[in-house]
Amino acid sequence: MQGRERVEESRCEEWRYGVGLFAYETENVAGYCVPESMSSEDPLFILYTSGSTGKPKEVVHTTALTVKYVFDVHPGDKFACMTDIGWITGHTYIIYGPLTLGTTTTVFESTPVYPSLARYWETVEKHGLTHFYSAPTAIRLLRRLGKSFVFIRGHHHLQPFTLSTLRVLGSVGEPINPEAWEWYNEYVGRKECSIVDTFWQTETGSIVLTPFPGAIETKPGAAQVPFFGQAPVLVEATTGKLVEGTGEGVLCTSNTYMKPYPGYFYTGDGAARDEDGDIWIKGRVDDVINVSGHRLSTAEIESALILHKGVAETAVIGTADDLTGQAVHAFVTMKPEFSYSSSDEASLVKELVIQVRKVIGPFAAPKKVYIVGDLPKTRSGKIMRRIMRKIVAGEGDQLGDLSTVAEPSVVDQIKQKVAESQ
Ligand code: WT7
Repeated sequence: MQGRERVEESRCEEWRYGVGLFAYETENVAGYCVPESMSSEDPLFILYTSGSTGKPKEVVHTTALTVKYVFDVHPGDKFACMTDIGWITGHTYIIYGPLTLGTTTTVFESTPVYPSLARYWETVEKHGLTHFYSAPTAIRLLRRLGKSFVFIRGHHHLQPFTLSTLRVLGSVGEPINPEAWEWYNEYVGRKECSIVDTFWQTETGSIVLTPFPGAIETKPGAAQVPFFGQAPVLVEATTGKLVEGTGEGVLCTSNTYMKPYPGYFYTGDGAARDEDGDIWIKGRVDDVINVSGHRLSTAEIESALILHKGVAETAVIGTADDLTGQAVHAFVTMKPEFSYSSSDEASLVKELVIQVRKVIGPFAAPKKVYIVGDLPKTRSGKIMRRIMRKIVAGEGDQLGDLSTVAEPSVVDQIKQKVAESQ
């Protein structure tokens, strides 16, 4: 007993000493620090990509300007980017961006549902947040909680909290399904906020395509227009020719010397341009499936599946097929409040297939639908389709780099489900 007391006392001394030291140091530091002039190409930090399509790649970053214009930040605002600080979104939009503007920033260290299902909304209310920047995966998770399922203080999980301080809501990381966008707009934004679907990459360091709040009319699911200094182009994947006007191609920006399209930086994303000139990101190019010559975007099929009232999240992949070249396989998770028994599973699968036939067409109908508990994701919430692709292709023992998988047990559950349905 005595021994333990001694230890605690000495820890206490250490602590006191620490605080004393801190106070002493701040008294000797001026309130204003003269900024050092830097070259715009001086390195700021090094980060690794999230590993959703392969081994994480190292990227060196220099500097940016997007927080002020994309989020319409003003003095007194309270900015909150709810992502992991180790992801580039955290670097740019928790640290460098807001702090260089002198804006209050929020560091959120938890998940949207811990320690309470309303963790985000408690945080918004407590701090009077004006800006809220999150990822489609979190938005879908919260939408999945549903209206009837979660009651906090006797209400739907969003209702008892004051969210009226919010002005701009952001989304980043994956295409946001129109369904999830509408939910975000209606329940979090109360149809009074601007929603910015911001497209960018670890490689670019800050936002490349985005709507501008209040300045342009938004479209659910479109990242829309280039940020200052960005010159996006659509390039035909096989010929390398520019796609002018409306049409689809791979998204590049015309400002560097890179391969495989000389003169263009290749993002690896497929995109379409509509008659207003707005750009819609379709997902990674390796997420395109070619069924009997029809080029289908996985995002499009996923958006069709999520229209089913019980569906929470989906991941669609293509797998080799003797007859059609590639075949569509869909992994689906259901909302917790959607109850069904294992004997209903076959009819549920049928409903989902019919759903895709109706929304897109018969050629897009999944050949297989796997109802699973969860999907494999990176720590930043990106669905790792390459894992499901390998498992379905019978290469579950060659999954490659799994260092960024958030929940490794999900991979085993997927393997088991696929094995069962062979
Ligand atoms: C990939 C980049 C985004 C910064 C975080 C690091 C996808 C990103 C969107 C969006 C559709 C998007 C793309 C891109 N992506 N934002 N608003 N709409 N897709 O991200 O690990 O470097 O991944 O994320 O596929 O290439 P990253």
